[in-house]
Formats: sequence, structure tokens, C-alpha cells
Amino acid sequence: MAVILIIGANGQLGSELKTVSENYYGYHFVFTDIGELDITDSNLTADFIRKTQPDWIVNCAAYNLVDKAENESDKAMLINGTAVKNIAMSIRGTECRFIHISTDYVFDGMSNVPYNENSVPNPAGVYGRSKLEGEKAALLHPGSMIIRTSWLYSSYGTNFVKTIFGKAKENDSLKVVFDQTGTPTWAADLAESIMLIISGVIRNQIAFNAGIYQYSDEGVCSWYDFAEAIVVEAGINCKIIPILSRDFPTLAKRPFYSVLDKSKIKENYNLMIPHWRSSLKKCIKQLMK
Ligand SMILES: NC(=O)c1ccc[n+]([C@@H]2O[C@H](COP(=O)([O-])OP(=O)(O)OC[C@H]3O[C@@H](n4cnc5c(N)ncnc54)[C@H](OP(=O)(O)O)[C@@H]3O)[C@@H](O)[C@H]2O)c1
Repeated sequence: MAVILIIGANGQLGSELKTVSENYYGYHFVFTDIGELDITDSNLTADFIRKTQPDWIVNCAAYNLVDKAENESDKAMLINGTAVKNIAMSIRGTECRFIHISTDYVFDGMSNVPYNENSVPNPAGVYGRSKLEGEKAALLHPGSMIIRTSWLYSSYGTNFVKTIFGKAKENDSLKVVFDQTGTPTWAADLAESIMLIISGVIRNQIAFNAGIYQYSDEGVCSWYDFAEAIVVEAGINCKIIPILSRDFPTLAKRPFYSVLDKSKIKENYNLMIPHWRSSLKKCIKQLMK
């Protein structure tokens, strides 16, 4: 029975993978978070992996505090870079397949056409730089697949959807930036796609091809459009007011444009990706239960 180790399983994506895994039979899932396996500890990581003997590892663990990272670069680099190397070095020389999650923040956001896997990364901040280090570290193992994603949200954890949903209920209006463009991704969609890839490869229906891939939901929007859609779907009477990024200063610079081209992952793994708006509807339904 194939052993699938999910690291960082208490976060948004990890929690969605737990939910999705209930529909996948015949696999042995091992879910860990920092309490069971702290991936910054190289000996612990090597021991745990040697004992668990996974056929697949999905690393959802990360340091995701984009602004805080500017003042905690050592911590961000340790979790997003060094710890990924610890995983890669523990499976180097084995047949274990490694899916590591990265981000649109590896790009500087100065493009006006979607970034593809050949676009040159140029992170604008510490978080993006640490995630880029993680990509390089993961690729030390030849059986690694990087999936860059963007604007992740879920009914689990803390994210933009839950923040706007909460704030909109308490305010008549909210100001949201409209000059940053990207694509929201429901973590449940990404989790399902990851399981389709893993199960398709295990059943020899699709070929595993290592390397860098990109995944977000379909479509494009600004954070303003996203917030507007959240209040509309939730039926909350709150006016969303568009503002410029310069009127909402943050510690870390955000990419103005970070739309990801998903052609490669769709073609290689036969994926049908939902539009962000239809997935948002489903997530809001869960939040309103
Ligand atoms: N969130 C986004 O908008 C976004 C956008 C693009 C890409 N991504 C990427 O997508 C992936 C999944 O993100 P997510 O939003 O699901 O993350 P998340 O909700 O922040 O979850 C990350 C999990 O990793 C755990 N963790 C932290 N340090 C660890 C360590 N040393 N060892 C083991 N586990 C550790 C965290 O525990 P604690 O909570 O205790 O720290 C948390 O449970 C990440 O690679 C992230 O960089 C996210």
C-alpha cells in the first residue's frame, strides 16, 4: 500500500488534504505537523522519513507571514528554505516522490502577462526569497515536483476570505486595494488536484514528470474584486471601496501582477480547474454553515 506523508497537515492546504483523503482508499496517509515532525530538525526529519518509508511526500509546511518575514528573515529562511533541504536530503537516492508547494511571490509582479514556469523569478521580499530557496532545495531530489500557487484560502486557518467575511459583518464599508492582480485558489481545489496527480501516477494512468509547475484556480481579479465577490456571495451589506496600494502601506512589497499560467500542469496531469468565483461560492457556503 502506497504511503503518503503530508507535512504541515494542520494548515489550510494540509487540512483540505485530510478532508480530500477520505475519498481516496487503498493508501496509507500519515499526517504530521510541527508537533510530530519539525522539519527544521534535520536528524528528526531523516529519522522520521526513514521509519515511515513514504512513497510520496507532500510538504504543506511553511512560514507564511509575508510582512513579519521582513523582520524575521532567519526564521523564514529556516522553515521555507533549510527545512525543505532537510526533506530533500532525506529522500535523495530513493524513489520517493516529493511535492513541494511554492508561491507566486517568487515573481516581482512587474509583468502584465501571466508568469509561466520559464519566467525568471525575482522576489520582492524576504518571504518570496525564502520560498525560492525552498524551490532550489526541493529540486536537489530528482523526484521533486514544485507547485507554485497563489492567494490560497480555505474554511480552515486564517486567510483573506475569512478576514473580509468577518470584517464585513462588523463594518459598513471596507477599503481594499484594486491595483494588485492575481488569482485566488481554494485550497480544497489544490488538494483535490494533488490527490488526482498522486493517484493517477500510482495507477499508471498518468506519467510523473518532476520539475516546476503552477496552479491557481481559473480567472483573474484584483483584491478589490475578490472582496466584492466575498460580500456578494455571503449576502453581507458592506460597501467595498477600491484604494491604491500606496494608500495601504505594508512592510513587505507585494507583486502588482502575479497571475500564474497553468497550462503545464493542466496538460501534463489532465486537470480540470474550476473558476475562482465558483469555488469561492462553495467555500462561503461552508463558512456560513
Ligand atoms: N497562504 C497563501 O496565501 C499562500 C499563497 C501561495 C502559496 N502558499 C504556499 O502554500 C503552502 C500551504 O500554505 P497554507 O496557507 O496551507 O499554510 P499554513 O496554513 O500557514 O500552514 C502551514 C503549516 O505548517 C506548519 N509548520 C510551520 N513550521 C513548521 C515546521 N518547522 N515543521 C512542520 N510544520 C510546520 C504550521 O504550523 P504553525 O501554524 O504552528 O506555524 C502550519 O500548520 C505553503 O507552502 C505556502 O507557502 C500559500
